[in-house]
Amino acid sequence: MTKTILIYGSTTGNTETLSEVVVEGLEQGGAEVTVKNVTEVSVNELEDYDLIVLGCSTWGEGELQDDFIDFYDEMKSVSLTGKKAAVFGPGDSEMYPDSFCEAVDMLEDKLKKSGAEIIIEGLKVDGDVEPVMEDARNWGIKVVESL
Ligand SMILES: Cc1cc2nc3c(=O)[nH]c(=O)nc-3n(C[C@H](O)[C@H](O)[C@H](O)COP(=O)(O)O)c2cc1C
Repeated sequence: MTKTILIYGSTTGNTETLSEVVVEGLEQGGAEVTVKNVTEVSVNELEDYDLIVLGCSTWGEGELQDDFIDFYDEMKSVSLTGKKAAVFGPGDSEMYPDSFCEAVDMLEDKLKKSGAEIIIEGLKVDGDVEPVMEDARNWGIKVVESL
């Protein structure tokens, strides 16, 4: 079983809702998943897992969800060489066409700089998350299949 951590940051609950179904998909795919809000995890804990899945919404104009900012900054101090990773997040392309789901791209870049391998295209959810629950679950399954 692939030891997996899913870390999410969520201001109004959308990323948290997505996380619940992504976890179901990961588990269905055969991963053993620990789920944490980014407020309750330290960067060093990433070293204990083989697969790292990050979920983060985009705020401001192309900024990380608030709770993720310190974690993101601290990521420079950890080596993730040999780890696999995937990122998802909700956004709004109608209101923010120039910064749609930029947090997903930022976290992918950061993971790569720390040595992790991005194993699947990030899941960017546009608008309401409720209609895409099944897609999010399937994405979770695909993450494990991409290992
Ligand atoms: C003030 C504000 C700024 C936002 N900025 C962006 C943005 O730059 N890019 C984007 O794709 N979505 C943006 N959004 C949309 C949020 O990412 C979206 O509502 C998301 O579902 C929130 O997820 P959360 O509840 O998990 O934090 C913004 C929303 C608000 C209210």
